[in-house]
Amino acid sequence: MDHRIIFFLSLSTLSVAPFSGNNHGFSYLESVSFQNSDIETLRNTTSFVFPPQRLLQTFSKSCKIWSEACSEEVLLMAKRPENVRWLKSLRRRIHENPELAFQEFETSRLIRNELRKMEISYRFPLAITGIRATIGTGDAPFVALRADMDALPIQEAVEWEHKSKVAGKMHACGHDAHVTMLLGAARILKSREHLLKGTVVLIFQPAEEAGNGAKKMMADGALENVEAIFAAHVSHQHETGVIGSRPGPLLAGCGFFKVVIQARTGSANPVLAASAAVISLQGIVSREANPLDSQVVSVTTFDAGDDLNMMPDFVVLKGTLRAFSNASFYQLIQRIEEVIVQQAAVFKCLAIVDFFKKESTIYPPTVNDERMYEHVRKVAVELVGPENFMVVPPMMGAEDFSFYSEVVPAAFFYIGIMNQTLGSTHTGHSPNFMIDEDVLPVGAATHAAIAERYLNEHTH
Ligand SMILES: *[C@@H]1O[C@H](CO)[C@@H](O)[C@H](O)[C@H]1NC(C)=O
Ligand SMILES: *[C@@H]1O[C@H](CO)[C@@H](O)[C@H](O)[C@H]1NC(C)=O
Ligand SMILES: *[C@@H]1O[C@H](CO)[C@@H](O)[C@H](O)[C@H]1NC(C)=O
Ligand SMILES: [Zn+2]
Ligand SMILES: [Zn+2]
Repeated sequence: MDHRIIFFLSLSTLSVAPFSGNNHGFSYLESVSFQNSDIETLRNTTSFVFPPQRLLQTFSKSCKIWSEACSEEVLLMAKRPENVRWLKSLRRRIHENPELAFQEFETSRLIRNELRKMEISYRFPLAITGIRATIGTGDAPFVALRADMDALPIQEAVEWEHKSKVAGKMHACGHDAHVTMLLGAARILKSREHLLKGTVVLIFQPAEEAGNGAKKMMADGALENVEAIFAAHVSHQHETGVIGSRPGPLLAGCGFFKVVIQARTGSANPVLAASAAVISLQGIVSREANPLDSQVVSVTTFDAGDDLNMMPDFVVLKGTLRAFSNASFYQLIQRIEEVIVQQAAVFKCLAIVDFFKKESTIYPPTVNDERMYEHVRKVAVELVGPENFMVVPPMMGAEDFSFYSEVVPAAFFYIGIMNQTLGSTHTGHSPNFMIDEDVLPVGAATHAAIAERYLNEHTH
């Protein structure tokens, strides 16, 4: 596929207007005061299997019914120095060896090794490099957490010890952090498996940037039995650990089209037909005040050859479209095709419109289910405090998480990685992109709490 197009498609993922953030630093553990000396021992433990089941059962009795103390326990586990070291080392290993869409072989191997060490069972391969792991009873309800694994064809410009070792490839969108946070959640959830009232499905998917990953994972059974799904994306627009989301439309649907307009008779003029089509396309974009219904259609190339004497046999147009609500996105696709085909017919031409559906360069809008959003909000507020949760505006980027959200109730949220001191202030897909690794335990805890609490509150 055309890299320029892929890059553009993905670049827009995070190119969004800044919104006013909350600038408070915060510390989670200050308010947590476990007096249990077992906890101190747990903190110092370096063995991989942690914490020992015996200790855990004394310590987590109360989580048969979810309470604030359960959030504190989850966060405390995530923030244990030994755990944080493990998370950072995982993330750095993945960061040093970035792999592009559908080539995430080593990343996938690393994930499977960690899952095996934790005695977590999984299915592999789905979608070439993808993994579906499960923790819990093996019975319903099933709740899924998703991480994407792919890197970008970008040369890292950040000079640091764990810089990408592969020329021209970089984890410039933070997917290394997404994988790490999900492995972090896996470890927490495995240690709390006796408390799970159902099954957590961990989805490690390839190729978010190139657009085929989520769809292929679903075709290979990633969502089998799953009744709800959640995912996070790191964001340089929030301070480290601040969580943001919104109910309803969150990210735009995005697509590309290619049109071939061909003369049907000797006298037909495809240049005229194509010109009329371009003008008419501008007319179908409604200028609504509602930002949730804003739409974009742009014809970006017009190719009629370069013969100065002869009318060409055909003209090729290419362009892009965006829309926020599910209904307006699919309507827009339909209208683009109608307008072009009918305009061409007026000029005795034939038009064929291709939306690259086979190549999956169409991303539907990412629409958060209201109830799933509310679940994320509740979990986040309890975990990081109300001052560190924000309702964010919809953004004109696109995400292939939308494929899952078309099939099961879903919520997507952001987790901040911005730290001025550190300089982690660059947008995703920038060669200067970097993250504040302090996000890793917070992200792991958030994922784990979302899943455990979902099962706790949705027992059938
Ligand atoms: C930013 O990073 C620095 C250096 O790691 C750290 O000392 C500081 O606490 C961080 N600030 C926030 C707000 O997280
Ligand atoms: C845990 O480690 C700290 C620092 O290394 C030490 O001071 C403390 O005594 C240890 N606690 C236990 C219970 O081993
Ligand atoms: C969006 O519309 C498509 C096509 O009409 C449909 O298949 C899909 O289920 C819809 N998704 C949501 C979240 O409503
Ligand atoms: Zn990206
Ligand atoms: Zn991304």
